[in-house]
Amino acid sequence: MRLTWLGHACFSLVGSRTVLIDPFIPEGSLPIEPDIVAVTHAHADHLGMTARLKKKTVAINEVAKYLASKGVPAEPMNIGGSITIDGVRFTMTPALHSSWLEDEGMGFYGGVAAGFVITIDGTSVYHAGDTALFSDMQIIRDLYRPDVALLPVGGRFTMGPDEAMVAARYVGAPLVVPMHYDTFPAIRQDVQNFKQAIERTTSMRVMVLSPGESIDISPESPLA
Ligand code: NI
Ligand code: MN
Repeated sequence: MRLTWLGHACFSLVGSRTVLIDPFIPEGSLPIEPDIVAVTHAHADHLGMTARLKKKTVAINEVAKYLASKGVPAEPMNIGGSITIDGVRFTMTPALHSSWLEDEGMGFYGGVAAGFVITIDGTSVYHAGDTALFSDMQIIRDLYRPDVALLPVGGRFTMGPDEAMVAARYVGAPLVVPMHYDTFPAIRQDVQNFKQAIERTTSMRVMVLSPGESIDISPESPLA
């Protein structure tokens, strides 16, 4: 499975299917054609171009209903539940964050914010969504054993590097990829410092990607 960071919280996972998570692309256009889209919550920097893509989309009930009203084939689900689509398994995990849908100048309740564990070709990726640190991340480790953890580190709207260091330990994935930083000035962070702090004190690896950069991950060797 090939994981690509497309900037901010947007990642593509390409294996037997192509999955796109939180398709907000700060600059430029979408370089891939997804089979399935997963949306963690309704904030514009996550919902992004979902309504325009019109692909099968996994989202929490409230967001799925909104997307269905825009003609998107949405699959509603909720925290703690799982759905398998074309062999790709999506488990919706909690996130400590808010959610708000905006459309044509109006605002709507967007359900609660979430994260996902997505398993494709035997590799499991935990995308934390926007979240604070919470100790039940240990349950995500115990239940789903993710191979990779995608963690927000930007601060202000999500946890920052200090909290994400604890989150990385709780999730226990051998590989951590930081996200949701440097997109705009309020979430600027020194991720190299985050990387060094984790790698100095744990056996985990932190891959700092540039937007558009990919890594290949297999369940046997996360850094193959
Ligand atoms: Ni948000
Ligand atoms: Mn966000």
